[in-house]
Amino acid sequence: VATQRLKLSVLGTGYLGATHAACMAELGFDVLGLDVDRAKIDTLSAGRVPFYEPGLEEVLVRNLAAGRLRFTSDYAEAAEFADVHFICVGTPQRADSNAADLSYVDAVVDSLAPLLTRPAVVIGKSTVPVGTAARVAARISALAPAGSAVEVGWSPEFLREGFGVQDTLAPNRIVIGTDSARVEEVMRSISATQIAQGIPFMVTDLQTAELVKVSANAFLATKISFINAMAEVSEAAGADVIKLAEALSYDDRIGGKFLGPGLGFGGGCLPKDIRAFMARADELGVEPALSFLREVDAINQRRRARTIDIARGLIGGSFAGRTVGVLGAAFKPNSDDIRDSPALDVAQTISSLGAHVTVYDPEALENAKRAHPDLNYAHSMLEAVRDAEVVLLLTEWAEFRDADPDELAKVVAETRIVDGRNALDPEHWRERGWIYRALGRP
Ligand code: UGA
Repeated sequence: VATQRLKLSVLGTGYLGATHAACMAELGFDVLGLDVDRAKIDTLSAGRVPFYEPGLEEVLVRNLAAGRLRFTSDYAEAAEFADVHFICVGTPQRADSNAADLSYVDAVVDSLAPLLTRPAVVIGKSTVPVGTAARVAARISALAPAGSAVEVGWSPEFLREGFGVQDTLAPNRIVIGTDSARVEEVMRSISATQIAQGIPFMVTDLQTAELVKVSANAFLATKISFINAMAEVSEAAGADVIKLAEALSYDDRIGGKFLGPGLGFGGGCLPKDIRAFMARADELGVEPALSFLREVDAINQRRRARTIDIARGLIGGSFAGRTVGVLGAAFKPNSDDIRDSPALDVAQTISSLGAHVTVYDPEALENAKRAHPDLNYAHSMLEAVRDAEVVLLLTEWAEFRDADPDELAKVVAETRIVDGRNALDPEHWRERGWIYRALGRP
C-alpha cells in the first residue's frame, strides 16, 4: 500500500461512519462511504445528513462538491477503490442478552473480504468486545483472495454525538492496535495532521486498543453513577449534591466533567457498552473484576425510578388521569438520538401508569414518535406543558434552561416542576411561585 494519496472506504454510514467519512475527506483523502441502506446513501449523496449533528452537513457538502467524497451500496466498488477500509458499523446490545451484537461487523467482513484481491489494510473503529479484532483478522485472511496481504488494525473512536466533527478532526488521542508495521505506517499517514498538532498517537496490540474504548466508556459511566449515588445520599441526608459536586471538582485529580448529577446516562454507547463489557469479562473468567459495573447500571436505572417517584409525590400519589408535560426526548441535548433515552423511558412509564403525557423536544420528536407512538407530542415547549399538573424537565436543552417560569406559569394547571437534569436555578423558580424539585437537592 502506497502511503501517498491513500484512498479510503468507510463501511457503515451511521453517526460514526458518516462523520468519519466526511472528516477524512476534509483532511484531503479520497473517500468512498458505503452502506447497505440505500435511502441513507441517497440522502448523504444529496448532501443531507440523516440525523442531527451540528456542523456535519457543511463538511459533507463541501467535500461532495470538491469530489473527494462519494457514497455507494456496492462492496465491489469499495474493494476496487480503496487501499484502506474502515469498519464503522454499530454494535448494539443483543436482544437476547447483555452481550454486543456483532452481526453488522461480521456482515461487513463477509461481504468485503472475498473481494479483496490486492494488498489492503482494514481498520476497525466500531466498539467491540476484546478479542473481536483478532477473530476478524483471521477471518479476513481466510476469506480474502489476497490472503495475509490484507492486514487488520483496530482504532477505536471516541467521538461524542453533538461534537462529532470536532472530536474526529481533533480527538484527544489516537490509538491504533496492531502488530503490523505497515498498518502502523498507514495509520500514521492518515493521522499526520493530528500528529503534527501534537495529538497523542499510541500504538498498542489489538486487545489493548479494543479495551481502551470500553474502559473509557466504563469509567465515564462510573463517574456519572458515582455522583448520582452521592445524590441519593444527599437527598436522604438533606445535603445539596450540586454544591458537593462543585467542591469535588476543584480537586483536579477528580475534575468536574461527567460529574453532573441527574437522570443519568443513556444513548447508544454508555449503557450497552458497560453491559457488553461485563458479559465479556464473564466469558474471560474475570467476572468479579467488573461486577461493580452492575452497580453502576443499577444506580443509573434508580435515577429514572426516583424521578418518577418525585413527580408522583407532587401530584398526590397517583398518575391515573393526570396531565403531565415532559420537556426532552433525546438522550442528551444537541442530539436527536433517542436510543436508551432516560427521558423517553420516564415518559413511557408515567404514561403506562395512566397519565396523559405530552412530550416536546427541539430535535428528537420524529424519532420519538416512531419509537413511542402512544405518547402525545407537542411542537413547542408551551404547548407541551399546557394544562400540566406537573412538568418534568428530562433533557437539558438550552431552550429549557432558559425557560421563563412566568411564561410557563400562564399555561400550566399547577406550577410544579421536577428538574431531572439539575438544569434550572431552584431559587429563581421558587421565587416565581413554583414548587421546584430536583434529584439530590433539598
Ligand atoms: C459517549 C462518550 O462520551 C464518547 O467518548 C464515546 O465515543 C461515545 O459514547 C461512543 O462510545 O461512541 P455519547 O454517547 O455521545 O458519547 O454521549 P455523552 O456525552 O458521553 O453522554 C452520555 C450520557 O451521559 C447522556 O445521557 C448524558 O446526559 C449523561 N451524562 C453526561 C450525565 O448524566 N451526567 C454528566 O455529567 C455527563
